[in-house]
Parts: sequence; structure tokens; C-alpha cells
Amino acid sequence: MKLIRGGTVVNGDGSTTADVLCGDDGVILKVASGLEIPSGCDVLDAGGLLVMPGGIDPHTHMEMPFMGSTSSDDFYTGTAAGLAGGTTSIIDFVIPEVGGSLVEAWKLWRNKAEKAASDYAFHVAVTHWDERVHEEMGILARDCGVSSFKHFMAYKGALMVDDGVLLNSVSRAMELGALCNIHAENGDAVAWMQADLLAKGMKGPAAHPASRPPSVEGEATQRVIAIAGLIGAPIYIVHVSTEDATAAITRARAAGQRVYGEVLAQHLVIDDSVYQSDNWLSAAQHVMSPPFRPKHHQKALWAGLVSGQLQTTATDHCCFCAPQKMNGKDDFTKIPNGTPGIEDRMSVLWHHGVRAGYLTPEEFVKITSTNTADIFGMTSKGRIVEGADADIVLWDPEATRTVSAATHHQNVDYNVYEGMTLTGLAHTTLMRGDIAWKEGDLRATRGAGRYVSRKSGGSAVDALKRQMAGKNPLSVA
Ligand code: URP
Ligand code: ZN
Ligand code: ZN
Repeated sequence: MKLIRGGTVVNGDGSTTADVLCGDDGVILKVASGLEIPSGCDVLDAGGLLVMPGGIDPHTHMEMPFMGSTSSDDFYTGTAAGLAGGTTSIIDFVIPEVGGSLVEAWKLWRNKAEKAASDYAFHVAVTHWDERVHEEMGILARDCGVSSFKHFMAYKGALMVDDGVLLNSVSRAMELGALCNIHAENGDAVAWMQADLLAKGMKGPAAHPASRPPSVEGEATQRVIAIAGLIGAPIYIVHVSTEDATAAITRARAAGQRVYGEVLAQHLVIDDSVYQSDNWLSAAQHVMSPPFRPKHHQKALWAGLVSGQLQTTATDHCCFCAPQKMNGKDDFTKIPNGTPGIEDRMSVLWHHGVRAGYLTPEEFVKITSTNTADIFGMTSKGRIVEGADADIVLWDPEATRTVSAATHHQNVDYNVYEGMTLTGLAHTTLMRGDIAWKEGDLRATRGAGRYVSRKSGGSAVDALKRQMAGKNPLSVA
């Protein structure tokens, strides 16, 4: 047993001074002030610290084959880095081969993830449509604990799905009580812009944002909202990076449609000036999709989080080292897309969100943990309450660290926040009651993570079904 004594417990709905008793089974036994120390119990002094639910990152890509490379953080190194930063669970993406079996891909990802140091769940991508996909979505939802599916509207010729696939898949997910995630960029427009830029001799990383301007994201976001509206299905838009997409989500929500939006910590604080670097590698290291945006978009993203129109924060953690990025030396369309971030998300949001005055500590907890647990049906996570998993971060709001690839734990040779000094750090991280990080000492255990099986009909879909019984009276369609 462990007793966390004398800290301020911060949940999404309020803060209180209380002790937290964690059982040997990794579950929270009691939250109350002045708890007695049971015999044989370890005591963690949380004086001056905040005791918060461990972060949940709803969007990671560990050891993912993508664009001719495999992302360099595997399920052990990536989740261990997350624990160092206060993140105790991830939701990663199973990516089946186009035309391949969703269930076989899910099994492959289960195998890869056995080494994870933190808990993990999976969204499964739908990359084409046929009878088998229809059937396997049912198997995954009923028997495999998968309650969310992913769709890429971009990456033409690889992962991209058209509107027909979206309609079929969103409708099937709705039937199953599952939630659809969407990467919203118009992939046809991106492919056309890429070819046009290459033909004009623009081959470097600066052409990457030019090939995917904000309108490309805005259009796709609006389109998938309209598609989901036809069916009355809730949807979740990943990595919202523009004011255009934020406005589309806000409009839909105001019209009564259940649309959720996720923001990456990276997009909140890094802008598109990174692509102007004279250093090719530095610019290439920032190639991700959607790309970094002109600064004014950041204001819309913060406003979206503050107003609750955007509900979660993630990292899209997808690392590629220099030799991998070099695949695109002569052609920006071949630079593997992705940036790291799992280790720094919580600190970036505390420093630039809470300390900067945008967010309260309770809102910080909601957007780093509780909302993700609720939207994706991770019922034992996201709260410091009796019966919940003892996934807990003892947060030092005053501790400071300067980020560097030289000292981070991510298995990648750069850090997009290099040189940024952040105040607000994970002092101690407990993963189901076990100390995985304490004052700079990483004690993550290979294989300690468990698969989080989620019931279909997680709260987002349940709520909608209760409200609408098959048809949304407020649908914009
Ligand atoms: O650039 C990115 N985001 N890479 C990972 C794949 C995706 O689009 O999420
Ligand atoms: Zn994406
Ligand atoms: Zn992603």
C-alpha cells in the first residue's frame, strides 16, 4: 500500500487538500484528509505538490510503419518517456494494411505493445471498405475492447479514405456504439498541391506547409461534420490546428451536433516559422501533418480549449530520427511526417496554459486526462477517486526544466521544444500504484502496462443514443 500525504488533490471538478491511499492491487482505496498510516504502508510526502490524475495521451504512434520508415519510439521507450512527463496511459493507432484484416492488425499491435511500461488502448484505422471490414468492426467492438475507429482523409494512395468509406464506416460505428476519429485534411487537394509545388521546383520542407494550407483542413473538417450529421453520429477530430477547423467544430456544436476536437501541444506553441530555417534537417524535423501554422491560429486553439469547444490535448507522438527524415532530402513529400512530444505535453500545457493564465489547474486536468477518459470510455481512469486506477502524478507547479534531446527519454535525436524552459513538472508518477518516475529517476518497467479494454457505447456515444434514440433532432443535416 502507499499513502500520498499532504498534497492538494486536483480533479477536473475541483480541488481539495486530501491524502490518497493506494492499494496493492493498484486501485485507489480512499481519498480523505488526515488518513492514518496503515502498518507496512509506504508514505509519499506530497506537501507543496498537486496530486492529479496521470495524463492520458489519446493520440500516439509507437513503432508505426509509415512513409517507408518505422517510428523510432517503441511501446516501451515511448511509454517510459510518457511516464517521465506524467502521462500514464496512451491510446495508440492500429493501422491495418490497405485491404488487410483489421483484427489481424489489432493482434499485431497487441503483440508489439506487450513491452509497454504504461497502460494503453487502441483506436483501429479503417483504410478501405468491404464486407470484411464491416464484420471486423463488429468483432473489435464486441470482443476486443475497441470502441473507436480512425479515418484518414489525407495521405492519398496510402491511408486516405473517400466520402463513401467515411459514410459506411461512421454509420457502422454508430450502430456499434463506437466513436470515429478523423484526420481531416483534403487529401486530393494536398496531392495536387504537392505535385504543383514539385513541378515548380519547390522540393524543400518549406513546401510542406504550402501544400496543406489551413483551408485544406477547414474544408475536410466541415465535410466530415456534414457527413456525420447525415447519420447523426458523434465524431472526434484529431489534431485540430487551425481557426478554420475550430470554427467548423464550434458551429456544429452550436447547432447541436456532437463533435469533439483534439489539440496537439506542439500546435499550441510552435508556429510555421520553423519551416524557414536554413538548416534543412531542422525544417524537416518539423514536418508533420497538419503542419505548424501561422501564429494567429494558436489563439483560436487556446480559445477552443478555454471555451470547451475543443476538449482534449494530445501529441500525435510519431518520431523519426535524422536518417529517416533524410529520405526526403530531394523531395519534401517523402519526408516521414511526424514529431515527438509525449514526454513534454503536460509541462507545455502547464507552463503555457496554466501559468500563462489561460487554464485553471482543474481545466488542465480535464484536457490532459479526464475528458479523454470520458470521451473514449476509459472508465477506471482520469480521476482521483475511490475505485479508480492509481494512475497519479505528483505535480510540482514550481519546478523548472529546460527541454533538450540530450536529456529527454524519448528514443529520437531531436526535440521540437529544444531550449524551451518550462515550469511545472512531474515530481513523481505512479502507474497503477507503482512508482515509475521519481525526481528524475525513471523506474518504468518493461511490460508493466496493461491493455485497457473499452466497452463500445463509451460515454460519448451512449449520451447521444440516450438523447436521440436513433435520430438527432438537432442534426444540421
Ligand atoms: O504527421 C503526422 N501527424 N504523422 C502521424 C500520422 C498522422 O497523420 O497522424
Ligand atoms: Zn493525422
Ligand atoms: Zn496521428
